[in-house]
Parts: sequence; structure tokens; C-alpha cells
Amino acid sequence: MSEESPVDPFLEIHPNIRKRFPQIEHDRDGNRRTYLNSGAGTLMVDSAIQGLAEAAQSANPQPGHIDPSEVATEELHWRVRQSVTDFIHGNRPEEISFHQSTTHALFNLAYSLRGMLTNLNNLVVTDLDHMANISPWEDVWGFGFGCEIRRAKVDEEGRLDVDHLLSLIDQTTGVVAVTMASNGFGSVVPLDEVIPLIRTKSYTALICVDAVHHALHGSIDVQKMDCDFLAFSGYKIFGPMLGVFWGKGSLLHRLQPYRVETNKSEAPHKFEQGTLNNATLASLEGALAYLLWLSDELARRVGRKIQSARNKFEFAMDRIADYEGKLSRSVLECFQRFDADRFRCFGINDPERIGERDPTFSFEISGKDPGEIKRYLWEVHGLQIADGNHYSAAIYRHLNRESLCRASFAHYDTLEAVKRFVEAVEDFLI
Ligand SMILES: Cc1ncc(COP(=O)(O)O)c(C=O)c1O
Repeated sequence: MSEESPVDPFLEIHPNIRKRFPQIEHDRDGNRRTYLNSGAGTLMVDSAIQGLAEAAQSANPQPGHIDPSEVATEELHWRVRQSVTDFIHGNRPEEISFHQSTTHALFNLAYSLRGMLTNLNNLVVTDLDHMANISPWEDVWGFGFGCEIRRAKVDEEGRLDVDHLLSLIDQTTGVVAVTMASNGFGSVVPLDEVIPLIRTKSYTALICVDAVHHALHGSIDVQKMDCDFLAFSGYKIFGPMLGVFWGKGSLLHRLQPYRVETNKSEAPHKFEQGTLNNATLASLEGALAYLLWLSDELARRVGRKIQSARNKFEFAMDRIADYEGKLSRSVLECFQRFDADRFRCFGINDPERIGERDPTFSFEISGKDPGEIKRYLWEVHGLQIADGNHYSAAIYRHLNRESLCRASFAHYDTLEAVKRFVEAVEDFLI
């Protein structure tokens, strides 16, 4: 390694990263493919797959305190809660509950705020969010309890219009529901800056953050961000299908989720309806263990020793963000050669501003059906992208579109995959 051109440690271990994702080269039928649909769900990492299988074989259905298998299951639950706490820089494992999905967790949360809000409150949602962080507020509090629901706009560049959001907030705002990043346009909301501004408009509004789209792309620190609630999904961080919910410890005792009378009345148990899914928890532990492995591998190569799990998560996610920035830059630079009258990529298009976006690219080709484009890219080029509205309010409400193509990258993708993707779109355009 010469001093002038040190090898990027991320690139150095990239083949090892890819080896840990069994489906990375082929789909279930052995078809060669390039998976560019991580926004809809990431590939599962080997340790998350093993977690599923091992728990199915050895976990006890119920946790407990007497026999070894129930004790092991109890320990598993608390280990995973602790690991998630470290991943998002929470305070205590009691703040973490597990749900069928993020959507489920947020409906649960909305319902559990009765007693804390009244119909005199307004709630603020955004046109950038996934519907999972809109419908619970509109359904439960708007239609259900008659609250006014206010909708913050998206600006011309596909970013949240922060000034408009702030103009909607006042001292009667009960909830501000906002995403970390758009699953439609990839735009990141700088919540470290926006949340203090929200607090100046209302010091009592509860801030609920949807971290699903951003969780695979960068680090999360709920304390630094100073949100009240946050949710993300296991299957968007290389793991299993489940939703994870975090709430500020000082608030959780005030929430009243729907709960069977015999369930424990304290957090986290009171938020969890029914028996937990041990296999998905063990799998989530495996997915998070992968990120710790990644941190160790990268730190070793740059001669760093990182001690705590939370610092390791942060280090791994920051390196992922750096690497993905290179993928985004390459995508946006290549898009510049397309005829702007025929091809449009939504969201931030400037390669110099990759720090403001995740590597998620919704696009359209004039006069062409997104389903036809998706089919062509798959059948001719083995590229797997998505079409549809992706449940994204940015697409469905802001653009009023039924469907857009979306190519979404993750850190296991390569610059070669970017090239293949851009050439395939170019081929379609000819
Ligand atoms: C940004 C965002 N939020 C929320 C969700 C909903 O997650 P879940 O499928 O776990 O309910 C998704 C799923 O695509 C998403 O992309």
C-alpha cells in the first residue's frame, strides 16, 4: 500500500462483505441478478439467516427464569433489546419493543397516545414520509378522534420543506411525525437540525421518527437527535421481517397501548401483543452482529480499537455512508448524460450534494410504463428494481403518481452494478 494511494479499507473487504449475503449474485431459482431493490427490503446476511434457523431449532417458545431453555430465551430477548439500544444510541433495553412491522408499531403507538392527546390537538405529518408514519396519525387521530391533521410539503428538489413544516407547528401540536429519509426520493431530513427548531415552536409536541429507510444507510442516535419515538424494520437492515420501536424512557410509562389485562403493564412488555417471535429476534441479533463484525474488520485495517458496541455501530454505519456516497455520485454523474426531455430522476440530482441523499433513485422515462421498464431491466439485463408508489407520500401524494421505477442501492453493491444499471437504462432509452 503506497502512501500516495492507500487502499480504501472498505473496498479491500468488499468481496468479504458480499460473501456474507448468500443471495447477492443469484435469486432463489439460480437466475443471475443484480439486486437493486434494497429500499423494499435488503438481502439477508448469513448470520441473520443462521439466527432464524438456530432459534427455530433451540429456542423455548416462552421466556422464563427456571429451566435452561426458557432462561436462554429470556436472555435472548434482553440481549437483542440491548443490541438495538446500542444500534440507535438509546438509554435502556426496556425502551425497545418488537412488533410485526414498523406499520404495526406506529399504529400501536398512535392508539397508545389516548390520554395524552385530545381532539383540541393538531398533528403534523409530512408529504415526504412513507404512509406508515402518516396513516396511523390520520386514521386514529384524524378520522378517529377528530383532530386536525396538517401536512408539511415537499420542495421542488424533493426535500422536506422545513419552513413549511415549522409554520404548521404551534403550542397545540400534539405530534410531529417525520421521516429520517424518503423511500421515494432518497432525500435525507437533517433531523439533528430540524428537531431543535420543532422544539422552539412547541415544547410539548411528541416527535415520532420513521428510521426505516435510513437505517441501512447511516448511523442513528436518538439521544443526539432528541426525538421521542423512533421505529425501523429488521428486513431493511439485512435481517428478518419485524418492526422495532423505541420510545423515550420518561414517556413510555404514560402510554396506554391496547393490552390484554394479564400482560405486564410496564415497558417493554406492555407494547408487545402476544408472544414474541424468537426466530426473528435471534435473526435481528445476527444482523446487528454483522454490523459489529464490519466495524471490527474496518477498524483493524486502519489500526483503531473501538471498544463499545454503540461506537462500533456508529463507525460501521459512517463507513457505509461514505461508501454509498460514492455509489450515489456515480449514479448521478451517469444520469447527466441522459436526455433530460426523456429521463427524469426525482430528488436531489447534483453529484456534489450526495450528503443530502440516500442511494435511492426514483425515475421515469417519458411515455413508458414503469412496469414495462422494470420487466425490461429484469428480462434483458438481470437487474431487479421496483415499480409502484412504494407507499411513499412523496410519490403518491406530492407527485400524484401511481407508479415510478425505483433503483435502490446498499453497501453490498458495487460501482460495477451502477455501471450495469446505467447502461441498461441507456439501452432502454435507445
Ligand atoms: C420509509 C418506510 N417506512 C415504513 C415502512 C413500513 O415498514 P414495515 O413494512 O415494517 O411496516 C417502510 C417499508 O417499506 C418504509 O420504506
